Amino acid sequence: MSRWYRAALGPSWSPVGLDRIRVAVGGRVVLVTGASSGIGEQTAELLGAAGATVLLTARRGDLLAALAERIVSRGGRAIPYAADLADPEAVDELATRLLADHDRIDVVVSNAGKSIRRSLTDTADRFHDVTRGNAVNFLGPVRLLSALLPRMRARRSGQVVNVSSLSVDLPAANFAVYSATKSAFEAWLRSVAPELRADGVATTSIHFPLVHTAMSAPTYSTRLPGLTARQAAEVVARTLVTRQRLLVPWWVRLAGVLTNNAQGPYEAASAALLRRRS
Ligand SMILES: NC(=O)c1ccc[n+]([C@@H]2O[C@H](COP(=O)([O-])OP(=O)(O)OC[C@H]3O[C@@H](n4cnc5c(N)ncnc54)[C@H](OP(=O)(O)O)[C@@H]3O)[C@@H](O)[C@H]2O)c1
Repeated sequence: MSRWYRAALGPSWSPVGLDRIRVAVGGRVVLVTGASSGIGEQTAELLGAAGATVLLTARRGDLLAALAERIVSRGGRAIPYAADLADPEAVDELATRLLADHDRIDVVVSNAGKSIRRSLTDTADRFHDVTRGNAVNFLGPVRLLSALLPRMRARRSGQVVNVSSLSVDLPAANFAVYSATKSAFEAWLRSVAPELRADGVATTSIHFPLVHTAMSAPTYSTRLPGLTARQAAEVVARTLVTRQRLLVPWWVRLAGVLTNNAQGPYEAASAALLRRRS
């Protein structure tokens, strides 16, 4: 992240020192979903280095095992749990294993996600994209949290961090399924947040702008301003220190308010842009 880009994001996006992260997560148990690559992988490495026991989940078990080995070789604690979040039975099995293996899970970083860049026309004969996006970005995380949260609430402590996207504030053409499913999870979390807060469980949502990972690579050039996966992990770690409820770049908030209040002109401008491109 260049200096000007960091300045554009504002001070709440700056990294905090490892010592402060250690105070927040040292000796705690942190589940990171989508830990096999990108933001999740870097978050697990960082939290493992800060003394957390990191529970790693994603489908690619070989990558999770290699990551766990790396964390352990540096003196940390990490355990891989391969599972497909889009498969309800696999999610139930994962939750059962996690609850059996660990008396407590202090933090869930709900990071696994699937992004689909596809127009409405191209989605017409690919409804499975809608089903799958919904399963990974909404139904799977809700199912997993529904199983894990009762114990957190009973202990009256914990935090859920939702790794979300600016597409919640600024839905854009060609990203309908992604925006809708990320927004659905955000709405669910906002709705349950008061119940969780009443029981001592904090919630955090981070609306990331572009992060250069395998997910964004097919769509966005690495020359565009964005965070690296490591920098995004530092933002996630920062929220475990600050327990901030919502982190949205100020310019995304502003653009969100403007486009919400001028949907007609915004959609007309987007349509003109699409027409020009095609
Ligand atoms: N990159 C960006 O510009 C950007 C911006 C805003 C928000 N985000 C959000 O950041 C999060 C992480 O994305 P990333 O950029 O780090 O991309 P990434 O490197 O592609 O990571 C996605 C992770 O999700 C896991 N995943 C996907 N489908 C899954 C499934 N069915 N079951 C279990 N795990 C699954 C993947 O693991 P397996 O393939 O091994 O299952 C992988 O570990 C996502 O929620 C994304 O929406 C990204």
